Formats: sequence, C-alpha cells, structure tokens
Amino acid sequence: MRADIRSEEVPSSIPNTEWAGQELYFFETIGSTNTKAKELANEGARHGALIIADEQIAGKGRSGRSWVSQKGASIYMTLLLKPQIKPENAPMLTLVTAMAVCDGIESVAKIDCQIKWPNDILAHGKKVCGILTEMDASRGEIHSIVIGIGINVHNVSFSGELSQKATSVDLESGKRQSRQAIMEAVMRAFEHYYAIYVQTEDMRELVEGYCKRLINLHQEVRVLDPKDPFSGIAIGITPRGELIVDTKEGTREVSSGEVSVRGPHGYV
Ligand code: BTN
Repeated sequence: MRADIRSEEVPSSIPNTEWAGQELYFFETIGSTNTKAKELANEGARHGALIIADEQIAGKGRSGRSWVSQKGASIYMTLLLKPQIKPENAPMLTLVTAMAVCDGIESVAKIDCQIKWPNDILAHGKKVCGILTEMDASRGEIHSIVIGIGINVHNVSFSGELSQKATSVDLESGKRQSRQAIMEAVMRAFEHYYAIYVQTEDMRELVEGYCKRLINLHQEVRVLDPKDPFSGIAIGITPRGELIVDTKEGTREVSSGEVSVRGPHGYV
C-alpha cells in the first residue's frame, strides 16, 4: 500500500494521468487551496495543475461557509482548469467531479459512495466530501476554473452539527486509508469523465452514470430556494445537470447555483 501523504513523500506529479495533476504544488499549511490555485492561475500555472495542502487555515465551503481543515486529517486539493468551454457550461464540472470522487474513493477504500445533488459525496448516508468550484471569466471567456475538493479521510469525529451528518473514509471502511492513493484515483477518474463531458460540454453522456449514484433519486426532496421553496420527488437530472423534480403542479428543473436540496426530515 502507498504511504499516506507527507511533504517528503509527495510525488512531483500524479502518476498515470495525462494532464490532471501533472503540475503539482504541495503546501504544509495554506489559507485555502482554491485561493492559491487562483493566484497560481494568474501567475501562469497550467491547465491541470493540482494544489494540495496538509492543512488549511481559511478553508472555504459552499455558500460562504468555512470548511474545517484540520492538519493531516483530510484531503484538501484544488484542480486548476483553463478550458476552452463556454462559461455557462462550467457549473456542470462540479457534477463531473462528484462522479470522479465517488469512483476514486470506491476504488481505493472499497466503500459505496453516493451523490447528494449536486455535488456532496456521501458514504452510508453521511457526507464524506464537498466540492467548491469557482470560475474567473470575463466577456464570455474563461480565464480559469478552480475545483476545490475536500475529502474527509482520517477524521475520527466531527463536532457540532457535523457530528450528525459527516463521516470519513477511514470510519466507513474500518481501516486507515491512504490519502495519496485516493487523490491519485480521483485525478485519474476525473480525466476519464472530463474527456466525455468536454465533447459536448454537458452531461448528456454522463446522466445515466450520475443517476446511478444519486441518493435523491425517487426520493422526496425539499428545494430550499429562498424566493420559492418547494417539495417534490426527484426523478433524475437533465443533460445540463439540473435536478428534475416532480411536484403537484408539474415537473420543475432546478439548477444548482445557491439553491440547496434537503430530504423531507433533514440533510438527505
Ligand atoms: C462544501 O461546502 O461542501 C464544499 C467544500 C469544499 C472544500 C474544499 S477543501 C479544498 C478546497 N479549498 C477550499 O478552501 N475549499 C475546497
């Protein structure tokens, strides 16, 4: 088995990928790998550069929340993309990444992973990974996209409200896993799914695989749109990655953005 990640053992690039993680930056401690990735993008880092940290002191989550990033516990990494795609197609990359994370964790730790739409990764119903995608674009042109991935690996407990809804790869697999092996497997899976996505710049060829992992499928969901919250049954996703929800008033398609989805009684 590979050693877990330590500064002296971090490889100079991710093995067996063509471009994802071929340029690699490792930091013992950093504010946020997403913020660093954006800086490096402006300084000329290439498409596929991967920024990894052992600890984040200003880790960012979705919707302006912070992401607790204890030293040595989890994977904190950001993949930098400089793709030739339309900005309006970029949000689907988060769903593509969710599929890659599931494959990566499963192949290494042998635990089943599911996706809570759009991009939370769950193991046995609890969150094991979050993804934060940020884009820098102007006048219809993308300068960079940073995809931040936080995977709980060695965590043994979670505080506060997280104690009910979060878990780690070690807890679910019952043994200590290698962060490095998971990271590498995720990057290889990302390359695979990205190649499919980029042909059409949407999810049309990935809808089936995504829905196989979708924990919300055929379940009641509550869509927390601040202006217009509603409930219904999730019946799939569109080729653009929107969640299709059957409601009493008819079918509605929900795009990710800042809208979040809950189960009728809680997180799932
Ligand atoms: C979420 O709220 O679910 C998204 C969490 C994303 C966390 C990761 S950790 C690596 C990268 N750097 C950050 O500051 N955030 C992302």
